[in-house]
Amino acid sequence: MESAIPPHLKTDRSRHRRVPDDYSPPYPSFVARHKPTVTRVVMAYFGLQYRGEPPAAVASALGEIARRFTGANGPSHWDRAQYVDQAGFSNVVSVAYWDDVAKFDAWFGPAREAWTGDGATGIGRYIEVLRPSVARYETLFSSLGRAEGVAVIADGMSGAVQEHAYWGGMRDRIALSQTDEMAPGGKPALVRDGGRLRVNAHANLCLIRSGQDWSDTDAAERKLYLEEVEPVLREGMEFLRDEGLGIGCYANRYMRVLGADGTPTEKSYGQSWWKSLAALERWAESHPTHVKIFGAAMKYLSTLGPAAKLRLYHEVTVAAADEQFFEYRDCHPATGMLAGVEAVAAV
Ligand code: HEM
Repeated sequence: MESAIPPHLKTDRSRHRRVPDDYSPPYPSFVARHKPTVTRVVMAYFGLQYRGEPPAAVASALGEIARRFTGANGPSHWDRAQYVDQAGFSNVVSVAYWDDVAKFDAWFGPAREAWTGDGATGIGRYIEVLRPSVARYETLFSSLGRAEGVAVIADGMSGAVQEHAYWGGMRDRIALSQTDEMAPGGKPALVRDGGRLRVNAHANLCLIRSGQDWSDTDAAERKLYLEEVEPVLREGMEFLRDEGLGIGCYANRYMRVLGADGTPTEKSYGQSWWKSLAALERWAESHPTHVKIFGAAMKYLSTLGPAAKLRLYHEVTVAAADEQFFEYRDCHPATGMLAGVEAVAAV
C-alpha cells in the first residue's frame, strides 16, 4: 500500500491525517503520478453557451479551438462535454490539460483572443483556467486501465493507495494538507473590461471534476447504475446547480462527455466551483444524495472488487489566488463564477 502523496511532496506535518497509520481501505483505489519534474499543471475549460438549436458560430468555434489544441504548444490531452444549464442554455465545454506552464502561456494569448475577444459574437463564451502547483490537487480512480482528465497527462498510476474510502480522504491526498488548512480568503469580484467580464475569485477556491464511466458495464451492472445510482446522482447535481450558492457551491455542471464525432458517450462528470474544500467536504458527507451513492458504491466496490465495470474518478484542486483565471463574454449572469460575484470593478 502506498501513500497518495508521492515521496517528493512529503513534508514534516503540522496537521494530521484523519486515519491512523495502520488504516486499511476496504477496496483498492489509485491516484495519478506525475514525474517529479512536473511542478505545475494547467486545467483550462473553454465553454460555449447558446439557447435552442446551435447557431453556425458554435460549429466554427468548436472546430477552431480543436485545431488550436492540436497546434504548436497545445495541450497534452483534451475532451469535450455538454449540458443544459439552469437557465435553459446549452453549454459545450472543451477541457484541456498541460503539464508545462510555459507552453500554455505561449499558446493561450491568441486562443483567448479568438474565444473571448471583440470578434467573438453571437454566442456566449467563457474561459475558466486553473494552474495549480502539484501540491494543490489530488486525483482518485476506482480502477486502473483508463485514465481520464488530468490523469491522462500524468506519467502513470500509483499502486493501491491508503488515503481513501473515508470522509476526509480527499483532503488527505492533497500534499498541501500536510501543513495548511487551505481556508478560503476574500470574495469573488467582477472586473469589466469592454465586452469581457473577468472574475477575480479568492484564495483557496476549489474545483472538482468527478467522473462516471458506465461504458464497460454488463446488463445487470448497467441497470443498477442507470436505474438506482444515476437518478440519485442527478438529484444531487440539480441541488448543487439550483441551490448550491447557499452552501458554498458557486456553480455546478452535470456534463455528458461527447465522442470525437460530437455524439454523447456513456461517460459523465460533475464539475463544480466551490468557495472552499471544507464546503465541498460538507456537501459530500452530509447531502442525502451523495451519502446514498457513496454508501451504495462503497458496498458495491467492496463486494465486486476488480470485477466492477463502473469506473469512477475525480480530480480536486484547491487553487491559490494567482493560479486562477475566469473570463466571460455574452453569457447569462448565472454562468460559472459570475454567479458568485458581489462586487463590481472596472479596468
Ligand atoms: C455515481 C456518482 C458518484 C458515486 C458513486 C460517488 C461515490 C463516492 C465514493 C465511493 C467516494 C469515496 C471514494 C474513496 O475515497 O474511495 C466518493 C468521494 C467523494 N465524492 Fe463522490 N460519488 C459520485 C459522484 C460525485 C460527484 C458528482 C461529486 C461532486 C461533484 C462527488 C463528490 C465527492 C467528494 C468531494 C468526495 C470526497 C469525500 C472525502 O474524501 O472527504 N461525488 N464518492
